[in-house]
Amino acid sequence: MNVDVLLGLQWGDEGKGKIVDVLTPKYDVIARFQGGPNAGHTIEFNGSKHVLHTIPSGIFHKSKINIIGNGVVIDPLIFENEANELKLSGAPVEKNILISKKAHIILPTHRLIDAASETAKGKAKIGSTLKGIGPAYTDKVSRTGIRIGDIQNSSFKEKYKQLKQLHLSLIKDFYKFDVSIFLIDKLSFEEYEKRWFKAIDYIKKFNLIDGEYYINTCLEKQISILAEGAQGSMLDIDFGTYPFVTSSNTICAGACIGLGVSPNKIGEVIGIFKAYCTRVGSGPFPTELLDETGELLREKGHEFGSTTGRPRRCGWIDLPALKYAIMLNGVTKLVMMKADVLNDFDIIKVCTHYIQDGKKIENVPFNMNIEDFTPSYVEFNGWKKNLEGITKKNDMPSALKKYIAFLEKELKVPIDFISTGPDRTQTITQ
Ligand code: GDP
Ligand code: IMO
Ligand code: MG
Repeated sequence: MNVDVLLGLQWGDEGKGKIVDVLTPKYDVIARFQGGPNAGHTIEFNGSKHVLHTIPSGIFHKSKINIIGNGVVIDPLIFENEANELKLSGAPVEKNILISKKAHIILPTHRLIDAASETAKGKAKIGSTLKGIGPAYTDKVSRTGIRIGDIQNSSFKEKYKQLKQLHLSLIKDFYKFDVSIFLIDKLSFEEYEKRWFKAIDYIKKFNLIDGEYYINTCLEKQISILAEGAQGSMLDIDFGTYPFVTSSNTICAGACIGLGVSPNKIGEVIGIFKAYCTRVGSGPFPTELLDETGELLREKGHEFGSTTGRPRRCGWIDLPALKYAIMLNGVTKLVMMKADVLNDFDIIKVCTHYIQDGKKIENVPFNMNIEDFTPSYVEFNGWKKNLEGITKKNDMPSALKKYIAFLEKELKVPIDFISTGPDRTQTITQ
């Protein structure tokens, strides 16, 4: 048995949560492998909407196991709040979630460092979600981090105290950041820290596992696993639009590291992309539309961040960037999301390449700055039809079929599913 991987091919928010939820009935285990509460994965069914940040998107299927892998960074308080909200909706939280002991913990001071660092950057800020992701991964790589397994040891509080002191001196002495006036999720530092410690006790109730052994044993027993990516390939720490990226490997290789699975155990790689493109936060976005068409995409697609509520930047689909992501991930199947958002558009554009100094470029350049090159587009007629109720590819309007056929030819990977709305049922699967 292999691990299938589902991940985003653009700058995040492609609709991963929805498709994981749709695919969960086919799998026994769903496992998050990187990122943390910077993610916001939305799932809609029976008229209700849920946004998940740390908990895998298989949680609404009662018989499925959901693993938070070693590659994830966990804020205990955000996790507890999320779990409590899910419990209200009847999700089997404590029974069905397993947490890797090797996952690193986001401390309250990581959140302060995130805020101090972004403030210090001024106009050059990353546009971080301010969930402490970068600082927590920094401590992991610096070998100073604290892991979930540590909460079971008597030395945990001492470890915490030492790391907190280190962080506070960085915040005060280097960043000159005034902690006393800063609120974390509307709470003073002291209040957040108090609740955070209670949440540590809550996490002790969960089954804390050696995730790598658990997962490989599942594979031996033919138990099927879907790995759920967070963010998107263009936000990858190595291959994204650095430094405007997140601090983890969002690409398929991240699933090996973030779960303890060897590369030869990766099965299908399902790549998710929107029928257009969005980005939230700072950084290059060559096909961004700063005009009324961009506004229309934002309005029709409700393009506001699931985690921060910030308006997402919108633009046309970018084939050089998508091809790059498909190459890096070894994508075997594609899923196109939010086709319905383009229902009313007369013309839909696709960026096929970039032009720099009069030359055609098909690769993603080292610096993706729009000042250095211009995207070149081909145009398609819109389908100008409501896609509501369509569940079969054959029933799609011919203009949509043409758009999909062009993308499949360019991307050289079949588009398996097409999503036509946020609800579970609004998916063209055959
Ligand atoms: P994720 O981070 O990749 O899971 O994506 P998000 O949940 O952050 O953002 C995707 C947004 O689009 C959510 O609000 C979804 O409910 C919504 N969505 C997902 N698929 C579709 C679709 O096909 N059409 C429309 N209109 N909305 C969708
Ligand atoms: P999901 O899983 C979209 C972006 C932030 C910022 C940059 C760094 O929902 O697709 P960080 O908080 O990681 O330090 O922010 O990455 N970002 C996301 N954008 N979707 C996400 O997750 C994101 N997670 C982080 O906006 O530009
Ligand atoms: Mg999201």
